[in-house]
Amino acid sequence: MKNYLIHDEWKIIEDSFHPEFNKISESVFSIGNGRMGQRANFEEDFSGETLQGSYVAGVYYPDKTKVGWWKIGYPEYFAKVLNAANWIGIQVSFDGENLDLAQCEIESFQRVLDMKRGVLEREMVVKLASGRRVAISSCRFCSLANDEIGAIKYQVTPLDFDGPITLKPYLDADVKNEDANYGEKFWEGIHEEVERRSGYVIAETKKTVFQVCTGMKFEILKAGKVLEFDSYRYKEDKKVACAVDLEIGEGETITLLKYAANISSMNVEKEGLLTHCQQAVEGAFELGFDALLAAHAKTWADKWEEADIQIEGDVAAQQGIRFNIFQLYQTYTGEDERLNIGPKGFTGEKYGGSTYWDTEAYCLPFYLSTAPPKVAKNLLVYRYKQLGKAIENAEKLGFKDGAALYPMVTMTGEECHNEWEITFEEIHRNGAIAYAIFDYIRYTGDQDYLVEYGLEVLIAIARFWAQRVHFSARKQQYVMHGVTGPNEYENNVNNNWYTNYIAKWCLEYAMEAMNFVKEKDPAALEAMAERIKFYEYTETGQWKKIAAGMYLGTDEALGIFVQHEGFLDKDLQKVEDLDPAVRPINQHWSWDRILRSVFIKQADVLQGLYFFEDQFNMETIRRNFDFYEPRTVHESSLSPCVHVILAAALGREEKAYEMYLRTSRLDLDDYNNDTEDGCHITSMAGTWMSVVKGFGGLRVRDGELHLRPFIPSQWKAYSFKVQFRGAVLKVKVSHATVDIENLSAEPMPVTLFDQSVNIDGKSSLSEAMVS
Ligand code: BGC
Repeated sequence: MKNYLIHDEWKIIEDSFHPEFNKISESVFSIGNGRMGQRANFEEDFSGETLQGSYVAGVYYPDKTKVGWWKIGYPEYFAKVLNAANWIGIQVSFDGENLDLAQCEIESFQRVLDMKRGVLEREMVVKLASGRRVAISSCRFCSLANDEIGAIKYQVTPLDFDGPITLKPYLDADVKNEDANYGEKFWEGIHEEVERRSGYVIAETKKTVFQVCTGMKFEILKAGKVLEFDSYRYKEDKKVACAVDLEIGEGETITLLKYAANISSMNVEKEGLLTHCQQAVEGAFELGFDALLAAHAKTWADKWEEADIQIEGDVAAQQGIRFNIFQLYQTYTGEDERLNIGPKGFTGEKYGGSTYWDTEAYCLPFYLSTAPPKVAKNLLVYRYKQLGKAIENAEKLGFKDGAALYPMVTMTGEECHNEWEITFEEIHRNGAIAYAIFDYIRYTGDQDYLVEYGLEVLIAIARFWAQRVHFSARKQQYVMHGVTGPNEYENNVNNNWYTNYIAKWCLEYAMEAMNFVKEKDPAALEAMAERIKFYEYTETGQWKKIAAGMYLGTDEALGIFVQHEGFLDKDLQKVEDLDPAVRPINQHWSWDRILRSVFIKQADVLQGLYFFEDQFNMETIRRNFDFYEPRTVHESSLSPCVHVILAAALGREEKAYEMYLRTSRLDLDDYNNDTEDGCHITSMAGTWMSVVKGFGGLRVRDGELHLRPFIPSQWKAYSFKVQFRGAVLKVKVSHATVDIENLSAEPMPVTLFDQSVNIDGKSSLSEAMVS
């Protein structure tokens, strides 16, 4: 765990240079706008430890799978999000002496991520090897108002000398991915051009043939006046640069404003890329840095107005939750149904930037409550459009007749994960896709989604489960062998309770959805049945039998659901019995030892109790929580939030708060020692859920919002907003009262502490807290 960042409500601050943590800071201080993202790499040269990362949404490379022992069914490739052209680079030299921050003495340093405005700023004073001292300041952002644009204001002031300075802004698409399986570069140069103060590079990805045109235009100012200058132009494969020689006096500040654009062939025809990019860059240049920044900051202000959570009396917690919300909206804005939320977003390479079940199981509720329904719907439609691929995935594994297995990791719908115990066995992911449809409809009331999109997905998923189970003559029940549950510290187990439960639920929900569509729009059902060869009576007959006869392991004596067969025969130690020196166990123990141990990576049985809470009584939840949580090491970032929500529902306020701290500052404090690879974006939605569903107790039942809030003793008050069926509610919880403000015109019924109340439009309600 690290503790080098300053606590502040709206800013992330690093106030002295920590080269040993530089890669962590590069992740934490990342900026993005849903269309592109940029690690907090320096503009100048830096020969120290760094992970260079500039990402363009949706642009990936299928890197040929590398495994020791090939197994039939493995995907051919792993889709990697690509490190794309460096658009931030500005080389600086003083009379030939290059500015390399790793070779300077850093006298002072401050890096600030201003989350309110979405801006990364840096101020520093350095001493060059020659002894000359220079002040540097930089400010940059990826515009949320115009997601093609990034802009940088870069300033240099010699403190104790004058003389020649060369500024060399450049674009460089000759970049690599650190995680390339075979060390190859993924980009080919297509076009370069450079003028006195602008340049363009078009590069194309190998195999996937995406093209990205990156452009720049810059101006230089001295004492607030725009300078006339000439430049030396450089052009080589995938790179362009303009070098400008100037004279600078002691104490004088030179400002370079660099406007950049990234345009990808996902959005613009290849033939038009250059022109489009030129227009984008020229447009940004014309507007100017301040106007661009103002529009960007205004868009952030609007986002914060919708999505902010305020916590009074705990700056670390306030900073933590805002950081999570900020990173989520930097990653996914919901504008484009072809995009999704990679577990590391635009902050690193790991996890390939691809889509995991994380989106449906963790991120969807955040977007449902903080954005209009079309944003969450886009996430569902993304999977609908990949249904064909999910059917192909299942076919590759021997399933047939339209059964779909959604991938564990994907960019296109095709499976990219290549560890057998996950690719073939972690099939519970299919359940999360179905659950998200249910969750979306429960929240929005948009049942019609089933007609156009939802039912087809649910049928294909139900078909998969119907083929994946088998009937055990001995048990006289349907069983599922050879699976991995959400707890990846157990592989190839039989009858994982969570997987069996969600499979049974999927079969039942598919039938319920089918009945809805049959009634609502029988012609639509008929047309679909014809198209996908759905034999209603035969298939649903089988589904009913399986759902009714599914084996669900239970231990009567302990009163718990059994994670999987044989689990209770393990040495049932608790995490408190572990020597702290061996934690996290995944960094200290051999894999076989982890597999044999009782220790649970993340919520498994408890994931099911979280999803289907209303189907169980509190006593059952309590017994399972008390059995499984003490054996859970929470070594997935997705784990603590589920436990916050359940602990809060059980009235375990301290436990809920303890777990909350693990999720909210996971990256800021580098809790799991891995933030240098990138931030844990998808679990950030879990942090939001921890506050709203956990502490706030928000649920939707029978089309109505329910709240049962509590407040951690460490906080004075907290508040959040939720959008619900056209209305916006602001909920504020203090130790004395719960205040709910209905910001919309229409009245809104709410159930608060089990009491139904009606809140008139544009009015508020204040009730005493119940403890
Ligand atoms: C977790 C998975 C998750 C993945 C990406 C893994 O560590 O066990 O549940 O999907 O990370 O976040």
